[in-house]
Amino acid sequence: MVRIEISIHTTQEKNMTDLNNVPHIRVTPPGPESIRWHGRAEKHMKGYSSQVGLFPVVFEKGEGNVIIDVDGNTYIDFSSGIYCNSTGHCHPKVVEKIKEYAGKLLNCHDFTTPIKTMFLEKMASFLPGNLSGIQLYCGGSEAVEAALRTVRTVKGGKYEMFSFWGDWHGKTGASMSLSSLGGTVFGPRSAGCHLAPVPDCYRCPFKLSYPGCELTCADVLEGMIDNEGTGAQAAFIMEPVQGYSGAVVYRDEIFTRISEICSARDMLLVVDEVLTGMGRTGKMFCVEHYDLEPDVIVFGKGTAGGFPLSGIAVKEEYSQSLEKMSASTTYGGNPLACAAAYATLEVFEEENLLENVNRVGAYIMERLVKMKETHRIIGDVRGKGLLLAIDLVKDKNTREPFKEAGRMVYKKAFSKGLAWIPAENVLRLAPPLIMTEKLAEKALEIIDESIWEAEKHFSC
Ligand SMILES: Cc1ncc(COP(=O)(O)O)c(C=O)c1O
Repeated sequence: MVRIEISIHTTQEKNMTDLNNVPHIRVTPPGPESIRWHGRAEKHMKGYSSQVGLFPVVFEKGEGNVIIDVDGNTYIDFSSGIYCNSTGHCHPKVVEKIKEYAGKLLNCHDFTTPIKTMFLEKMASFLPGNLSGIQLYCGGSEAVEAALRTVRTVKGGKYEMFSFWGDWHGKTGASMSLSSLGGTVFGPRSAGCHLAPVPDCYRCPFKLSYPGCELTCADVLEGMIDNEGTGAQAAFIMEPVQGYSGAVVYRDEIFTRISEICSARDMLLVVDEVLTGMGRTGKMFCVEHYDLEPDVIVFGKGTAGGFPLSGIAVKEEYSQSLEKMSASTTYGGNPLACAAAYATLEVFEEENLLENVNRVGAYIMERLVKMKETHRIIGDVRGKGLLLAIDLVKDKNTREPFKEAGRMVYKKAFSKGLAWIPAENVLRLAPPLIMTEKLAEKALEIIDESIWEAEKHFSC
């Protein structure tokens, strides 16, 4: 059997998965071993995501762009965990660094370690604008909370924050209060947290069309800040491209208007790049695509190649404020996380990942646009770099979400060997940043076939 390298890695060892034979479904998934392991886990573990709930397969290992289940089925990975495995599964360099540091020191609170220093220096060299003050945490929500503490510290206790409908910032108190919670009954929101209509041109909340709309959404945001605010307006927090809501990309002018609105009111601008950051959209940080100078950036997910590490970076002039809010957390910036993140950033440099994201992202998008022309239920395809989504609709004119089809296409494609991310009618495509055109093409064929099958099933 001819064995080939699994990805674009230039320095990694030969991988043992035969790429010509990926995906490979040996037994219809979830297979007997998946059912056995998941059944045992499920007795204790409650509250799975829809990604797992709809397709409870049990994974055992991953290599580059491929993930393998306990029944020996191999899948093309179009999910990266959940936007985390930026350098692919178990990149040899990341694994080596973790091994090297695992034998040295696991935790020493927020004392400096050489690897933390090395990571901070490298991270600082990647940060846009004059962002320089950094704090390190483990999860995205935790880092969002730190960003909100920064805002309150800088603004002398002002606490009113604004965000957009459909944004997702996490599951902790304030981060959740600035997110769309859908049908969940977690209310009330924390005091001072407000959500404004989203500038989503595909499903405009005002049923207007660009450019005739003259950016009504921005006017409404401005009005909300002035009318719902009570003099304690402190910040606007946004995802530069909405991830959870399905790769919702805004018009460039929106960013200019948001900057103007914030600076006119002396409010800070917090950009949550937990999902969009670290190369996912084709620039190291998504804000670099736009005319936008955030005061605070939040990062997480792909920063350490799949290992838990998150953080915030603030403008030089606010760095002193960070001194007033302790950076101490139990696990944030631990040596293993810093080692994984340092190695991940080295891979970005050495393997030119951004170039790959842009090339493969453009290739996938071109194919999606063609697919949209041939399928009656594809209403929209959108995204940036390797943050992409397909929006299924019952009718291309009314754009009514086709949730049943979304669930069916997700499951059909998964059973053919594509691990990806559902969100009702929106199907999310988030391959590792080392994805190749060849594997992406196979994934797209699976998606195409699965959509045809759903169309047939629903007689569309
Ligand atoms: C933009 C954004 N911010 C914050 C979070 C929360 O991150 P975590 O799940 O690591 O707490 C997420 C998670 O999906 C996210 O997408």
